[in-house]
This record gives sequence, C-alpha cells and structure tokens, in this order.
Amino acid sequence: LTRLVESVPQNGNRKAFETEMQSFLSLFTRYLAEKVSKEELDWDKVMAPAENQIVPYDNITSSVDPMSLQKLAVLKVNGGLGTSMGMTGAKSALEVKNGMTFLDLTVKQIEHLNTTHNLDVPLILMTSFNTHEDTLRIIKKYVDQSVNITTFNQSRYPRIVKESLLPCPKTASDENPAWYPPGHGDLYNALVHSGVLDQLLADGKEYLFVSNSDNLGAVVDQRILEHMIYSRAEFLMEVTEKTKADIKGGTLINYDGSTRLLEVAQVPAEHLDDFKSVRKFKIFNTNNLWIDLKALKRVMDRGGMDLDIIVNPKVTEKGETVIQLETAAGAAIKHFKNAHGINVPRSRFLPVKSCSDLLLIKSDIYAIENGELLISPERMFATTPVIQLGDHFKKIQQFQKRFKDIPTIIDLDHLTVTGDVYFGRDVTLRGTVVVIANEGQTIHIPDGCVLENRLLMGNLNV
Ligand code: UTP
Repeated sequence: LTRLVESVPQNGNRKAFETEMQSFLSLFTRYLAEKVSKEELDWDKVMAPAENQIVPYDNITSSVDPMSLQKLAVLKVNGGLGTSMGMTGAKSALEVKNGMTFLDLTVKQIEHLNTTHNLDVPLILMTSFNTHEDTLRIIKKYVDQSVNITTFNQSRYPRIVKESLLPCPKTASDENPAWYPPGHGDLYNALVHSGVLDQLLADGKEYLFVSNSDNLGAVVDQRILEHMIYSRAEFLMEVTEKTKADIKGGTLINYDGSTRLLEVAQVPAEHLDDFKSVRKFKIFNTNNLWIDLKALKRVMDRGGMDLDIIVNPKVTEKGETVIQLETAAGAAIKHFKNAHGINVPRSRFLPVKSCSDLLLIKSDIYAIENGELLISPERMFATTPVIQLGDHFKKIQQFQKRFKDIPTIIDLDHLTVTGDVYFGRDVTLRGTVVVIANEGQTIHIPDGCVLENRLLMGNLNV
C-alpha cells in the first residue's frame, strides 16, 4: 500500500489517497484477524427481534410538525452499478418515464417537499468512480432550481488477489477493474472524509434520511422523522414484511440483546434455510435509514465503526479470483443508542433489482405524482402483476432491444417470458400471459397485438 501511495505525485491529491488507503487497511486488517481467529457468528445467539426492537408503522405518532423538516437532509446512495442488470453506469440514470430518470424523479420529490413547506431540504448524492459522471450529467440541469444538490464521491478500494492477498493495482492510476466501491456501508467514512458531515452540522441539519437511489418509494415521511425525534432514536431502519421473493435481503436480529443487521453473506451455510424462512425472520431491511447526525459525528470521532465485513469474490477477465471487502450501511445500527426498526408498508420499498422490476416501474401500472410512483387509479386490483422475464432479458441492453416500447399491462396478473422473444410497439397484455420460445426458436410479438390469457409456445403465429 505504501507503494500505491507513493505512486501519487506529491503535488497530486496524495493526502486524500493516503487517508483512503488507511481506511482500506483497517478493513483489510480486520478481515485478516477474523480469518485467523475463524470468528463466526454464534447461531445460537441469533434470535428473531424482540417486540420493542421493531415498531409497527401504524403505532407511531401521526401528529407532525413541518418545522422538523428544517433539520433534515436527504441522501441517496448512488455508487453501485447494478451489476446483476449488466449496468456499466449508474442504475439511477436509467429512464423511468417521460424522459425522467430515477435521479430526476428524486429531485422532483424533494422539490415538491420544499415548495409545499417553503423549506430548503438539501439532496445529497453519494457517487463512486463508476457513477460520478452519469450523476453530474443528469443533475447539472438543476443548478438554478429550488433544490440544493451536493454530490460527494465514496471511497475507491483496491481489489485483493485471493491467493496471494496482494492488492490488484500497482499504481494509484491503474485502470478501474483493479478497484471497487466498497458497498454502501462506506457512506460513513465518505461523509467524514468529504467534509459533508461537518458541513451538514454547520448548516443546522440534525437528521439524515438515507435510501437507495433506485428506490422511488423512499419518499420523506414526516411521521417517521417525528417518531425519531420523539423516541430519541439515534438510528432507525425501515424494515418491511418479507415475501418468498425477498430471501436475499438482510434482516434485523436480536443478537445477545442488541439489535443487529444480518446479511445473507454472513450466514453459515448450514443455517441458510433458517435465515430464509419467512416464519422466523419475518422482515427485511429496505435500506431506508434515518440517522442522527450529531450521534454519527460522535461515533466517527471516537474511532469510527467496525461494520461486519461482506466478502464478495469475483473472477477477473484473466480468470483470477479476487476479493472485494464490502460493508452495508444498515450494519451501523449496533453503534447507536435507542436504535430500532420500523415496520413500514411495502410501498416504501420499490427497488429495481432486475429488468422485470424495471418493466413494472416503467409501465402504466404506475402513475407519477410529484416524482412519486403511485399505483394508477386505472388498476382494478390492489396488487401489482407478477413479472418473470427470462435470462434473455437479464441485461439492460437486451431488455431495451427486446421491447420496442413498454406494453400496456394495466390489466395483467402474471407474465412469464422465456427464450428469444421480441415485443413490438403498442402491445397489450391482460390476465395471465406466458410466452415460451424454445431453444433455437424466436417469437416476435407484432405491433398492436393484444394477448389476453394466452400461452404462446414455439413458432406459433399470433
Ligand atoms: P446493492 O449493490 O445492494 O444492490 O445497492 P443493487 O442495486 O441491486 O446492485 P447489484 O445488482 O447487486 O450490483 C443498493 C444501493 O446501494 C448503492 C447502489 O447505488 C444502490 O443505490 N451502492 C452500492 C453504493 O452507493 N455504493 C456501493 O459501493 C454499492
């Protein structure tokens, strides 16, 4: 690491790079120590959270004081790539509707909040070297608007060769594959190193609402803010009821009496089924987090956080196995006083983890109001359709190529698409629609086609 630091010219930003490498080193040292001690989670101590550790949303105060919002800042973690969708830039730069991206809609939400209450709630975006340019391109049009937007870059850490435990990059200016953004848990270090935490406190901000940049359901909720103030909680995590599809999300646990986040990567293989069970762990982390900024300052000044390390192995193009040491923002819950979970309605968690999620959000199922996604009044059912697009639609480029435009799905219950399928313009899907193109076959759904309760297979003509 000293060699990496020395590769930065003295008159370059060597100091900042050195600080970043120091943070990496303390994460790496912790990783090595855990590897040697083989310290593992003691599964016998892992309990479902106690009643007072998770408060139902309906039980929190409904009387709010709009003036509390003056002490609030909103932050979106926007440093990830959405690798599962094959993204090479920021997921939040994807268009959702009417030429508006996730970021544009977020700005609209804050703009609406500010104009309604005549406030100046700032929007802060944490970017990474992967997403910074995309983000700046989108937000530059808001320079003179009623939202004060700040961006700061999260850390860039070196990947480590699994075999030798040596860093992949040889110099600080080595190409990107040698580096990675170390997960959204990096938020706390990055807030301190960028000076943004001190700036917020100097501006009189006391609370920070954090959420994922692709979660348009994470609108500012005044009741939760009021509950935070009233309950003197230094940290709140919004959790929501798990369905069978959410088995990957982290869950809140009671570990030896303290409230902790447990991520799937930390669970010993023999307990995976237990972890995934909807019965024992009923809720999962939405990553909508509320943080008391003074408490955060205190924790960071007193030596920072030891967030649980998530080891993320990757195979490089050269076939070499490397590891990325990452952390999750929610794991910080163990460092704060009176911290607890709030069980919120599912509508506060609308992430886009796959192209199937993207299709739903872009479709006529949702209408947009002040940047918020609301189920269209035209929808006759309370639930949204279940959409399962196959592997041919996994990557965003494929998705964009296979839908000439987004079909009308307001009356759809269930869509399954498998194989080499293309959708024309103005297609309408209703009820249950299953389209299966077998190996070697291609199905083109023609422009203007209406499919209602249909099963299409092979080369059948529509
Ligand atoms: P995740 O990485 O947890 O999930 O990011 P994802 O968006 O589904 O991405 P893939 O497909 O697993 O890669 C959740 C949120 O955290 C941000 C992302 O931008 C997203 O808003 N994030 C993630 C960061 O800000 N920094 C990171 O290093 C990683």
